[in-house]
Amino acid sequence: MSDAAALEPMLPPDQDRELEDLAADVIAKSAHLSAQITPLVAQAVGDLVRSMNCYYSNLIEGHDTNPRDIERALESDYSRDPQRRVLQHEARAHIEVQRLIDSGEAPGGGVAKVQYVRWLHMEFCRRLPDELLWVTNPDTGDRLRVVPGEFRQAAVKVGRHVPPAPETLLALLDRFEEAYASPNLSAIRRIIATGAAHHRLLWIHPFLDGNGRVARLLSHAMLREAGVGNSLWSVARGLARRVNEYRAALSNADASRQGDFDGRGARSLAGLRDFCVFFLKTCLDQIEFMQSLLQPAQMLRRMKLYVDDEIAAGSLPKGAMGLLREVFLTGEMERGRAAELTGYRERRARDTLSALLDRGLLTPTSPKGPVRLGF
Ligand SMILES: Nc1ncnc2c1ncn2[C@@H]1O[C@H](COP(=O)(O)OP(=O)(O)OP(=O)(O)O)[C@@H](O)[C@H]1O
Ligand SMILES: [Mg+2]
Repeated sequence: MSDAAALEPMLPPDQDRELEDLAADVIAKSAHLSAQITPLVAQAVGDLVRSMNCYYSNLIEGHDTNPRDIERALESDYSRDPQRRVLQHEARAHIEVQRLIDSGEAPGGGVAKVQYVRWLHMEFCRRLPDELLWVTNPDTGDRLRVVPGEFRQAAVKVGRHVPPAPETLLALLDRFEEAYASPNLSAIRRIIATGAAHHRLLWIHPFLDGNGRVARLLSHAMLREAGVGNSLWSVARGLARRVNEYRAALSNADASRQGDFDGRGARSLAGLRDFCVFFLKTCLDQIEFMQSLLQPAQMLRRMKLYVDDEIAAGSLPKGAMGLLREVFLTGEMERGRAAELTGYRERRARDTLSALLDRGLLTPTSPKGPVRLGF
């Protein structure tokens, strides 16, 4: 048996009604979500979702960086506490790499590829301080360096799973690429393949460390490539909210074939199929969650609650909501319209606009140009 055979089956068989319906639902709902807000607002919301994504992806690994610390890290404001600083670096690295994916700056030529997976790991790890690039083997006490973009040369263990030997990694990853970057997959199969690839990459566990984060970034990139993923929703959040189910589903799909009715490969077909169902349901959950969160009426209501509080505290002028509402609904506002929208005279309208710009709730596109949402 060749090394790569250990990875089979790569995909659940065609014509699995439940999986196909789930994938079709992901296509329909994600299109609906994207159509729901103007592209300029989507851009602003993107940063917020990326922070959320990173927060949750790190949470799976038990690294709990709070959102305020993440925000500070993005402004290069690092804590003096060494432990918090390290977590901030990690969070920032995650967000920056996702931003590269979202803006299409990742290398072209296909996502589910060996080169791409290495690139993700390299970009993520090279942003980390040295102290985060060491792992200790719990059995031997040896300290090993994690080299950005390099596959492991040592054995590892994750939970109960013992990933394949380092000598077999290249053969396994070649098979991975052949199956998941195949041009022959239908639109529906490409979405199902995202879930399968997520598990198979983690089963291979090609890196000494960082496999979980790389796998979640890869899923994001694959969903994007398949036309359903974007900066408006994140599968990492969903996986973190069901971390026990996630681990159990991963572990279940690690299993070898269970008897004659469990496919023909080395691994359990039922385990892989169940993982794909779990993964797609998690995607749907997240798309639906963001859809309700980003409903214009709901967002405006939440914005108003926030602004009312700020007005009551004297930190924003009364006309602030009129300006925010306009920018939220249309994406952009000429500064000259502040008076008309607040109902104030020029001077007071300008002060209201300045207060929103100072607070970062609105952001300029150029020194005198129109303003956009700043959060
Ligand atoms: N039984 C399992 N089989 C395969 N993969 C698993 C299993 N259990 C957990 N995992 C995955 O392995 C990841 C942990 O691997 P690894 O330590 O390389 O990733 P990481 O992103 O560096 O995490 P950490 O921050 O804890 O170092 C988990 O996030 C999860 O995605
Ligand atoms: Mg780790």
